Amino acid sequence: MRQKERRPGHKAQPAGSPGNRRNDERSSHPPKAVKPVAARETVREAAAPGASERPLKDRTGNRPHERVPVILESLGAGDFHLIDSGTGLKLEQYGPYRIVRPEGQALWQPSLASHVWEKVDAIFTGDTDEEGTGRWRFPKEALGETWPLHLLGVDFYGRFTSFRHVGVFPEQIVHWSWMKEQVEAAGRPLKVLNLFGYTGVASLVAAAAGAEVTHVDASKKAISWARENQALGRLEKLPIRWICEDAMKFILREERRGNTYDIILTDPPKFGRGPNGEVWHLFEHLPLMLDVCREILSPQALGLVLTAYSIRASFYSIHELMRETMRGAGGVVESGELVIREAGLDGKTRGRALSTSLFSRWVPK
Ligand SMILES: C[S@@+](CC[C@H](N)C(=O)[O-])C[C@H]1O[C@@H](n2cnc3c(N)ncnc32)[C@H](O)[C@@H]1O
Repeated sequence: MRQKERRPGHKAQPAGSPGNRRNDERSSHPPKAVKPVAARETVREAAAPGASERPLKDRTGNRPHERVPVILESLGAGDFHLIDSGTGLKLEQYGPYRIVRPEGQALWQPSLASHVWEKVDAIFTGDTDEEGTGRWRFPKEALGETWPLHLLGVDFYGRFTSFRHVGVFPEQIVHWSWMKEQVEAAGRPLKVLNLFGYTGVASLVAAAAGAEVTHVDASKKAISWARENQALGRLEKLPIRWICEDAMKFILREERRGNTYDIILTDPPKFGRGPNGEVWHLFEHLPLMLDVCREILSPQALGLVLTAYSIRASFYSIHELMRETMRGAGGVVESGELVIREAGLDGKTRGRALSTSLFSRWVPK
């Protein structure tokens, strides 16, 4: 694919560092080799359960049908839309604020005049390199660290983080809308598992729609941000289990216990760490992660949704892995890219498509 490989790596990171995005945004990268050898080995010992934990199941039966390529496009929703992009930058609207951030995919020239790009509220002026942390510049006036946002019926805080992220990856609106529809149409409380759930927007959307949600993330700060989001919308009564744990460890335990879920969302970084130093490498651990996810899908499951950022891979890589994993399960695997469409200053004028990530999802029909 066209994306560059950059995702902030992930050590149970500060909440602002979601662990990584394609094109700097959630770029994940292995930790810098600054640790002495002994310390590095300790980390290795704490590695997330890999192939040694349990072998992959021998999957038989036909591969599910396929739908490819599927481009899931968002023109924005709620308080978010992409205004313009170009010259390696994107201009976005997040509630009251216009924000400029680096965007490696935007090879073209901006559509809007330079004075529009200059009259913004915040500009990320960090290191645009993959490991880049940075600073925000506020050309008009100093802004507070957080501000309220609204999307798909839930409230949450935007936050100017030193990893250029603002607490939500709005291209995932398409998955979240799909999930919301499934939950609302189910006629029973669906069990949703949100792995690598970050600030919990997807978990809140699912719970507000009527699901019982289990949210897993390695970062304590991300979990407390997610709880703040829940409190902001006065949604404390909703059934969400906030779990600070290594995602792989968690699902292996659920498999042993026989616990199942109707919808699983998994949005792993390329590289990450669990709270106890467990190492997550997408290319090494994804096959087992999907294999275990399949085992913990309920008999009436409605979907297994994988999003992948910042990898040098085609969507076919995750598509074929998903189809192999779901052999014999029937249904369809649909895969492609998540893109955000420029929507102009008014939020309605369709412009160019900005690709953000790859996805693959299995659905029963
Ligand atoms: C890219 S974010 C996910 C974003 C979120 N799904 C969304 O779209 O808003 C990745 C998250 O994975 C978490 N993470 C990284 N390594 C992990 C691990 N081994 N186990 C669980 N969570 C991990 C990070 O703390 C971070 O919040």
